Amino acid sequence: MTPIEQARADRQGALNRLVEFLRIPSVSTDPSHGADMRRAADWLAERLRGAGVDRVRVDETPGHPVVHAELLAAPGAATVLVYGHYDVQPPDPIALWESPPFEPSLRDGDLYARGACDDKGQLMAHVEALAAYTAAGIAPPVNVKYVFEGEEEIGSPNLAAWLSAHASELEADVAVISDNAMVAPGQPSLVYGLRGLAYMEIEVSGAPGDLHSGLYGGAVRNPASALAGILAGLHDAQGRITIPGFYDRVRPLDDAERALLARVPFDLTAFNRAAGRAGAWGEAGYSLIERLGARPSLDINGMGSGWTGPGAKTVLPAKASAKVSMRLVPDQDPEAIAALFKAHVEGLSEPGFSVEVRSLHGGRPALIDRDLPAMQAAGRALEQGFGKAPVFTREGGTIPVVADLASILGLPTVMLGFGLPDDNLHAPNEKFRVEHFHRGTETVIAFLDELAKSAR
Ligand code: BES
Ligand code: ZN
Repeated sequence: MTPIEQARADRQGALNRLVEFLRIPSVSTDPSHGADMRRAADWLAERLRGAGVDRVRVDETPGHPVVHAELLAAPGAATVLVYGHYDVQPPDPIALWESPPFEPSLRDGDLYARGACDDKGQLMAHVEALAAYTAAGIAPPVNVKYVFEGEEEIGSPNLAAWLSAHASELEADVAVISDNAMVAPGQPSLVYGLRGLAYMEIEVSGAPGDLHSGLYGGAVRNPASALAGILAGLHDAQGRITIPGFYDRVRPLDDAERALLARVPFDLTAFNRAAGRAGAWGEAGYSLIERLGARPSLDINGMGSGWTGPGAKTVLPAKASAKVSMRLVPDQDPEAIAALFKAHVEGLSEPGFSVEVRSLHGGRPALIDRDLPAMQAAGRALEQGFGKAPVFTREGGTIPVVADLASILGLPTVMLGFGLPDDNLHAPNEKFRVEHFHRGTETVIAFLDELAKSAR
């Protein structure tokens, strides 16, 4: 049997193993899940051993462990570094799930569970691909190294240091990550760009304590109003971000790239379904796909002030706060943008208020050379796995490690995503199409074969 035939013969076994993995609630941001994080890392290490890797380690970090494994069975051939993350987002709001987030449920060909797509299901496609080689009694045609981290969803605070410390062990020719989506069902894509991120928190304080709005209202400036003014002013009428210097390092799109992105069969119906009555919005002069992948953005992620519980309470709050994140594109630098944001917002402070701005985390944007031989190999593999040639596209999400792999290890990354735009990442009812899990596994097998054949 070929590895692909082997993978097809054991689809049910592979699905069962994924379900087992999804039952572990590895929520990285929640300290009460510390033991589950360890359990997920150990489970993955054991699974890699089962898939035929003999050198597997679970490395401690100041945060959650990194699972590291390698199988160097192809002397002289290329080496590929596979990255994935075994941590997941919190399942909240739990009430909106149709089945419990950590009890995987199969409905209409979709597997519903937190982490089904982001990223346990996609990561397991790589592990199952290796398992298929092993079960078929065939050594993988390239050398493989695996790095599975447990802190991606909290901004990978400890990964760069771990990569630097283990740089010599991690030598490779190319990295591959499956942690993104295809453009639409039936249309695979090769993502060559991701946005970066700068995540900020603003706190505006006024009076020393909350005040009765009858006794003080109209006579004391409200910090929530001050904050609302600051936030509302962060975009102009053209949808552009007003922070001075914000666009200085944005790499402009050239005509060739605009033409390339215009050819992506963007699923407007799915987009509109998700956007609902809010509809499309954004920076004037750019298409939706450009706004999403190739232009920076700024969003309020949360706001808090005064009374937000049920019913009414007459209060003039002492404080108001907001979480604001900015998605960045090359060559914007998260730290530089965080500094511009801080200076701008603090400068908008009114007399009598203190405005404090903190940076919570960030990640650098990434752009990969489309002509890379490994990219072409991935294109041929996707065509085998999904029956259609992929389109090149850029996506708006952030995977901080992509920039680190380039700067620390000198590795370009191929982004081989098997998710769909409506997989409900980070939201209730996250899902992964079972067919994509299996086809993804076959695509990974094909990718390793194509890499072995392609020039380096
Ligand atoms: N898998 C996503 C990133 C993603 C989603 C890339 C869709 C491309 C398309 C990843 O797990 C994620 O959620 N990343 C965070 C990063 C942050 C916490 C630093 C993000 O984008 O918000
Ligand atoms: Zn995520």
